[in-house]
Amino acid sequence: MIPPNGATAEGTEAFFKKQASFLHSDKFRSFQDWQVSALGLGTYLGNYDDATDLLYEEAIEQAVKGGVNVIDTAINYRCQRSERTIGRALKKLFQSKKIHRSQVVIATKGGFIPFDGAPPSNMESYIRDHWIQTGIVNEEEIISSCHCLAPAYIQNQIDQSLKNLGIDTIDIYYLHNPETQLAKIDEDRFYERLKKAFDCLEENVQKGKIQYYGLATWNAFRESAGRSESISLEKVMNTAPSHFKVIQLPYNMAMLEALALSGQTLEGKQYPILSVAYHFGISVMVSAPLLQKQLLDLPSSLVKKIPGSLTLAQKVLQFVSSTPGVASALVGMKDKKHVEENLELLKVPNWDEATLQQVCDLLVNR
Ligand SMILES: NC(=O)c1ccc[n+]([C@@H]2O[C@H](COP(=O)([O-])OP(=O)(O)OC[C@H]3O[C@@H](n4cnc5c(N)ncnc54)[C@H](OP(=O)(O)O)[C@@H]3O)[C@@H](O)[C@H]2O)c1
Repeated sequence: MIPPNGATAEGTEAFFKKQASFLHSDKFRSFQDWQVSALGLGTYLGNYDDATDLLYEEAIEQAVKGGVNVIDTAINYRCQRSERTIGRALKKLFQSKKIHRSQVVIATKGGFIPFDGAPPSNMESYIRDHWIQTGIVNEEEIISSCHCLAPAYIQNQIDQSLKNLGIDTIDIYYLHNPETQLAKIDEDRFYERLKKAFDCLEENVQKGKIQYYGLATWNAFRESAGRSESISLEKVMNTAPSHFKVIQLPYNMAMLEALALSGQTLEGKQYPILSVAYHFGISVMVSAPLLQKQLLDLPSSLVKKIPGSLTLAQKVLQFVSSTPGVASALVGMKDKKHVEENLELLKVPNWDEATLQQVCDLLVNR
């Protein structure tokens, strides 16, 4: 096995020790053998242009200096620009010795066919010329003209992500929205495809190219068992992938399923995904904690009833990051003021169980 050159237990612990004087201990948590910040920085939204690249580059530096050590991306985000921007930001941070590679957790995803800098003018010929004729994928492996989980394709994407990010090892590699495939193939074929992709990911662990892997989803873990896009974590675990250690799903004040929907089957009974993930020792990363800003329009009558003196955005993030079982809430942020406001949350304790319950009741009964 080639040893990884990525986040480590010692490095991530040192990251928080250095900042212990201003970060609250509730706001760094265990993720397998690492320590991760309760807020991570997401890089999904935004235009594919130089100005947005620059905003993200500066936001990453600001966030890392303020106590964030999780950066989340995907190869297709902003036509590979997000990965490349993270690469530039990391290079600067590492060169200035502000941070060591072992202290940050870099996560990316593969599955959606990425564009290169900007969308192509003709999607059909782009896929044919760049992906099929080059032999990277077979036409029948592409779902809905945009998604592929074939091992050779995933290998190509891991290598491209490493290049874009300028690192030797990706700490967390997700298969991106794998439920997309369920629109076109049946369940048995779907789990076979997952198993083959996992075999490829295990090989990459052996090569030191990734450390852990998992599934980043949108609907898969928010639907009841048996629904069309539902993925069973129990079935996934039955394929016994040893470095499968993480899932990502949306969870926020308007999408409560992770906590409140008993949609996953475990040993014949139904439980919420957060409980089933805990049972299997799987870490949970949360996407879209602000519901892509929509939660910042919550009625002020409701917001006033939420206890404490946090700002609205901080209350919405506090709800996610206080939920037991959540490792990091991945917040999309590139505006300096937003980063500053969100970083303040890392200085305060989590809500206790009674407050969390009170807020849940307010949300459910409104
Ligand atoms: N299926 C998947 O795998 C999946 C799907 C969605 C998201 N994700 C991941 O999760 C991350 C977060 O999700 P998201 O970016 O879609 O949505 P989000 O985090 O819920 O919201 C991001 C939006 O909120 C704004 N914002 C952040 N802090 C703010 C504040 N304090 N006040 C006002 N506005 C604020 C951001 O603006 P600025 O950017 O201007 O600061 C951005 O427009 C993504 O970036 C991505 O890494 C994964």
